[in-house]
Amino acid sequence: MPSINDSKCILIVGSTAGIGRSLALSILALPSKPTVIVCGRRKERLDELVAAHGGDGRLKAVQLDVTIDRTSLKASIDDIIEQFPELDAVMFSSGIQHISDFSEPETINLDDVISELTVNYISIVSMITFFLPHLIKIGETRPSFIYTISSNLGIAPVPGAPNYCATKAALHSLSLSLNVQLKNQNVHVVEIIPPLVESELHELHHAGQGGAEAYSGIWMPLEQFTKATMVCLERGDVQIPVGRAARRYAKYESGKLEGILRMQAFQRKAAEGN
Ligand SMILES: NC(=O)c1ccc[n+]([C@@H]2O[C@H](COP(=O)([O-])OP(=O)(O)OC[C@H]3O[C@@H](n4cnc5c(N)ncnc54)[C@H](OP(=O)(O)O)[C@@H]3O)[C@@H](O)[C@H]2O)c1
Repeated sequence: MPSINDSKCILIVGSTAGIGRSLALSILALPSKPTVIVCGRRKERLDELVAAHGGDGRLKAVQLDVTIDRTSLKASIDDIIEQFPELDAVMFSSGIQHISDFSEPETINLDDVISELTVNYISIVSMITFFLPHLIKIGETRPSFIYTISSNLGIAPVPGAPNYCATKAALHSLSLSLNVQLKNQNVHVVEIIPPLVESELHELHHAGQGGAEAYSGIWMPLEQFTKATMVCLERGDVQIPVGRAARRYAKYESGKLEGILRMQAFQRKAAEGN
């Protein structure tokens, strides 16, 4: 099975903090010695990472806000491909989370709803579209990879964050379809499905609502999450539900990917018959 060990150059969008940062450093430490490009809005975080871990020149940084307009986003992706022609893997860890209560509709901030949808889904499907011609070309000679990071909340929602869960359900569904659609082009779509994990996600986006304090007793420590995820990435798993997400996955998702493969075969047969 193609795995993270086959990647020569990986871009991790959303790696100035949390899961993306931690996976970036673990991937950088792989014996296969890939180039790792860290990416996010906060330049000082990118500079710190390169200063602390960029000794042998394999850690690079690209500053990017994924909410910029579509033309600028496409130009940024084209620049990245031009700068790193060996790029064969892209991981999307950028994400934000808001909590909202639709039983009090006057409190719903639709700007938050739209920005959550933009960061967690629209920007990712856009970037995938812009990267794909390059990744398909790479796939002609060696495997290439797309890594999405959905959530156990994309499988079954938590009522306190309805829109966040919907964005993750969308990303989960997209990951399943792309896994099947791109298989024959040697582009491997891998979905990481985390449980509640120690990170800044809750601190930053539950401002004043005690997210980090509320969760700190129950979340999976980041180091534990990273180690468990790396085992699966190195093994070449295509769906990686970690910790409590594995239980939810087993209950609601098992057999789904195989079902989608069967639907593809059915659609092809039907098309041939016409
Ligand atoms: N932690 C959890 O419990 C958990 C559980 C399930 C799934 N997830 C998912 O895992 C992924 C990583 O989350 P995390 O927990 O590591 O959160 P985090 O610590 O808050 O990190 C989020 C990352 O996203 C980047 N980001 C946010 N908005 C961006 C933008 N407009 N443009 C570019 N980058 C942007 C941030 O970088 P800058 O601010 O520097 O731009 C940061 O590097 C997310 O997709 C999240 O939904 C997390």
